[in-house]
Amino acid sequence: MTIHIGAAKDDIAPTVLMPGDPYRAKWAAETFLDDARCINQVRGMLGFTGTWHGHPVTIQGSGMGMPSLSIYANELIRDYDAQTLIRIGSCGGMQDHVGIRDVILAMTATTLSTPSRGIFKDLNFAPCADFGLLAAAHHAALAKGTTTHVGGIYSSDVFYDERADLNDQMMRHGILAVEMEAAELYILAARYKRRALAVLTVSDHLITHEALPAEDRERSFGDMVEIALQAAFA
Ligand code: HPA
Repeated sequence: MTIHIGAAKDDIAPTVLMPGDPYRAKWAAETFLDDARCINQVRGMLGFTGTWHGHPVTIQGSGMGMPSLSIYANELIRDYDAQTLIRIGSCGGMQDHVGIRDVILAMTATTLSTPSRGIFKDLNFAPCADFGLLAAAHHAALAKGTTTHVGGIYSSDVFYDERADLNDQMMRHGILAVEMEAAELYILAARYKRRALAVLTVSDHLITHEALPAEDRERSFGDMVEIALQAAFA
């Protein structure tokens, strides 16, 4: 057990999927895993472990934002020895050619600040995905026929962002989408030599202001979960 995860050491699999929303962890575990059992309920941040095609998998909520994700990812890596960590989550589209429901594979995650910011001082460390996972996820997404974009995303620390100029600069520099967790996950994976990737579904759009209707969410999010699982065990 750790401060935030009430699971025994071998209750957590080496491969962990991390949605922000604990109820999405429950839904994904019940939908995609065999023999899923709840392994964490501390603070309602639900986690489940089961198997996918015989491979052990944990799906653990991360909460929203990098400070929250950092707590769970640190404990999963340092205390439970997680080796492969894949964020599955939603994001806001930032380019005209990126549509609602599309899947984004985050090759890099640009950020202004993460919980790790202090250790880099003035250096702009470039958080990036594990290439093997990224290539496998791309392969899986193409095979599925899911409209998928690979490129840079922006991990923001503000959801209600009044700094419009920052979003403008991100769009101008080709950033595909905004979310709030991937950069810290990539930095922790780099630090501890683990594999990390963020597979995201576009749920809303900063240019068109479209949003995914509630009834469409499950199916769209399901593609993302399958892509993540296929990439983990490719
Ligand atoms: N901003 C930040 N994070 C997000 C968004 C957004 O518009 N959509 C989904 N996650």
